[in-house]
Amino acid sequence: MYDRWYQNAVIYCLDVETFQDSNGDGIGDFAGLTSRLDYLAGLGITCIWLLPFYPSPNRDNGYDITDYYAVDPRLGSLGDFVEFTRHAHERGMRVLIDLVVNHTSDQHPWFQAARCDPRSRYRDYYIWSADKPPDADQQVVFPGVQQSTWTWDAQAGAYYHHRFYEHQPDLNIANPAVRAEINKIVGFWLQLGVSGFRVDAAPFLIDIPSFQHGDAQDRYQYLRALRETLSWRRGDAILLAEANVDPQTLRQYFGDGDRMHLLFNFYLNQHLFLALVREQAQPLIESLRALPPIPPPCQWANFVRNHDELTLDRLTPQERQEILDAFAPEPNMRIYGRGIRRRLPPMLTGDRRRMVLTYSLMFTLPGIPVLRYGEEISMGDDLSLRERESVRTPMQWNDQPHAGFSSAPGEDLIYPPIDHGPFSYQRVNVAHQQRDPTSFLNTMERMIRTRKECPEFAWGTWQIMDPGTAQVLALRYELEGRTVVTLHNLGRTAQRVRLALGSGAPRLIDLLSARQHELPEGTPYELELEGYGYRWLRLVS
Ligand code: NOJ
Ligand code: CA
Repeated sequence: MYDRWYQNAVIYCLDVETFQDSNGDGIGDFAGLTSRLDYLAGLGITCIWLLPFYPSPNRDNGYDITDYYAVDPRLGSLGDFVEFTRHAHERGMRVLIDLVVNHTSDQHPWFQAARCDPRSRYRDYYIWSADKPPDADQQVVFPGVQQSTWTWDAQAGAYYHHRFYEHQPDLNIANPAVRAEINKIVGFWLQLGVSGFRVDAAPFLIDIPSFQHGDAQDRYQYLRALRETLSWRRGDAILLAEANVDPQTLRQYFGDGDRMHLLFNFYLNQHLFLALVREQAQPLIESLRALPPIPPPCQWANFVRNHDELTLDRLTPQERQEILDAFAPEPNMRIYGRGIRRRLPPMLTGDRRRMVLTYSLMFTLPGIPVLRYGEEISMGDDLSLRERESVRTPMQWNDQPHAGFSSAPGEDLIYPPIDHGPFSYQRVNVAHQQRDPTSFLNTMERMIRTRKECPEFAWGTWQIMDPGTAQVLALRYELEGRTVVTLHNLGRTAQRVRLALGSGAPRLIDLLSARQHELPEGTPYELELEGYGYRWLRLVS
């Protein structure tokens, strides 16, 4: 039962174009990424998730695709992709890729054919309307940058639907030909060795106008159909969906374990930030209680930050404001009226204890961790860049020019590496931290190793404990008679923690340090937890 790799994976997310440039053109590429695989293996990563690397006009960081069956030539060839996948497998790491089929680029040949000719077989690949629907200007995903969800196309003589930017027309998955196309894309990449897909914008993918009048279940049936195709083609492949919806609706995405294998836990993520701001465990406790139970073959994917804004849309306006005031006090740090375009370390003003506490939570909350490149060395952001680009600067490998990312002249770089302030590559980089046993990188590496040795976090049943202080989150995990307890002090002040551990557990081993505690039979366990302190404890009888 405990052999489903994705239920205990450690995922590392990266964008090929900002990771490592191998040929000096200023753009990261597959050959560069392949040369860094030993680093990722050393960190303990078991699965790499690649952001879109397909041919693209790149108006949405590659989420605007013009060819689903190829690699952006700037990043390499299909051959380079297969070499990379092979070398990742050699080191025991699987590869996930982004499946972006809610929309294409408006430059995709399908859209070009569709807009020119109403009789084209591609016309019905997209969603058209003779009139602009009355609610067209509501519910835009990128307020302030995007005007509408329906845009007039003069060539087509009709409005087309797009949930995201106007250069991203939505595909019509009610059309069987589009479904067949998606199956073909999935089959193609599985054949090339990937272990699954991150399903981009899952709620929008299935929420298309022609479905709105039918049975609400129809749209979720599509997720099942997609899953069936995937599992038939490759039994151990998985779907990891981006579905930032309310807790009740999340259940639909798991189905009976026959739809998505993994869901990003956006709900927990937003409450994590609320808990950090308030220095209280309550928001985490409430969100853990509000989330639906998950079917046995499924799992949550926990994260701290991703390549987008930190969205706070599941919180009340007042809760959102608390976080914005604390972590994004300046207007330039905010975006889309609901989020923050910063990485974690600058939000926490570089407070190392608090940063480590946050990642300790990510590694131990029920589910699996998804780390984003640069988080393991506490990289910062560049607010002079546009929109979400602030959090997409190149990986900081060393203190050499351009952070060791590229040998290209500065003006050729895809983005400039961060070269000033406390998070500059001269101060924050892999090479320095590898040589320092107490570095952030080595702390993260040790946490990853320990996490992998604790299958309780992935498969155990968990329970919220009462530590006798509202500042501390205490969780107890049990799996086949083995028990781990985690403690996280969200506040800056030291707290006295008191836990009733029951009988038969006379010894507690601290998994991250040399501390050990003998417990006299029947007494509650007591300890002093320093401000922003954390413990991973195994009970041994
Ligand atoms: C979600 C992706 O995470 C985001 O980066 C992108 O802009 C939208 N989907 C549109 O593809
Ligand atoms: Ca390159």
